[in-house]
Amino acid sequence: MKIAVCSAQPYDRQFLLAANRDIGHELVFFETSLCEETQQMVRGFPAVCVFVNDRLNAAVLNTLAGHGTRLIALRCAGFNNVDILTANDLGLYVVRVPAYSPHSVAEHSVALILALNRHLHRAYNRVRNGNFALQGLLGFELRGKTVGIVGTGHIGSAVAGILHGFGCRLIAHDPQQNAECLNLGVEYVSLERLCAVSDIITLHCPLTPDTHYLIGTTAIACMKQGVMLINTSRGAVVDTRAVIEGLKSAKIGALGIDVYEQEGDLFFQDLSERVIQDDIFGRLLTFPNVLITGHQGFFTEEALASIAQTTLQNISIFERDGVCENAVTMELLR
Ligand code: NAI
Repeated sequence: MKIAVCSAQPYDRQFLLAANRDIGHELVFFETSLCEETQQMVRGFPAVCVFVNDRLNAAVLNTLAGHGTRLIALRCAGFNNVDILTANDLGLYVVRVPAYSPHSVAEHSVALILALNRHLHRAYNRVRNGNFALQGLLGFELRGKTVGIVGTGHIGSAVAGILHGFGCRLIAHDPQQNAECLNLGVEYVSLERLCAVSDIITLHCPLTPDTHYLIGTTAIACMKQGVMLINTSRGAVVDTRAVIEGLKSAKIGALGIDVYEQEGDLFFQDLSERVIQDDIFGRLLTFPNVLITGHQGFFTEEALASIAQTTLQNISIFERDGVCENAVTMELLR
């Protein structure tokens, strides 16, 4: 199948070309992200392969469908950037990679927790400047702390497995209880209770209309003084302005994020020569107790190989059968 690969970074080419060696799809790479302004670049491709910050709204989907596209292949798990209702109405089939080494994101989430609780990001810079003073680097131990996991699917349950090894008390909030988590002794509670008793809160739910700004002023007000908040799910699960207020009042004692509401304008590019125009992001960068990574949770060799393989398999299966088990169905929207 002829596939337009959007937002293609060098590593995407490397892993997709390797996975395609024995399959033989025709891959055409575009570095540019797909959005209304760039939609003409993929005219006439039967399959369009996209990533987290390509924006497939109704206008883009109409153009694609009008020019013969039949398949949207997401090379990620989340699908909040595609208007699924419109795609469905237009007969555009959408497939995704539901689980590709969830440990990649789970381990990154735990890395953020460990870096923040022992101030590694500050210690690294201090030591390089010849400053070996410990004042300000006082940490806390994870053993015995209560960690609240919001969303215990593939990634959240992997986080639970790792933190169980650290001796944490684990609680979770999820409309669906996960058997592996129950076996680990995870206790399911309401979001309010989770916020009230957790020393660390880590977010692993998808971005849906229900989870948009799930963590905002109300949730933050319920939290323990000095709570650590980790978000590696999607930026808009958190109201960033409310979090900034929480950081200023010290209600939030540490923040680790791999995702950001407006990350589409920033992440996956080298902007080091430019002035960042996003003042909210700029404010976040000023806090000593905030650690930000640029959506790299998925970025391991194992995950990239798995994403490339599943993406091309999804396309082959759709080409052969017209359906695929990794389709984004209307069921997933509920
Ligand atoms: P999953 O579908 O296996 O699990 C998501 C869980 O969230 C499910 O158990 C679901 O019941 C639960 N959930 C849904 N609504 C909820 C709510 N209102 N409150 C609490 N829980 C709720 O998804 P998976 O693979 O674990 O991924 C989770 C999210 O992580 C993805 O949707 C994506 O946004 C993000 N992600 C981030 C990556 C990164 O590089 N930072 C890479 C991959 C995924």
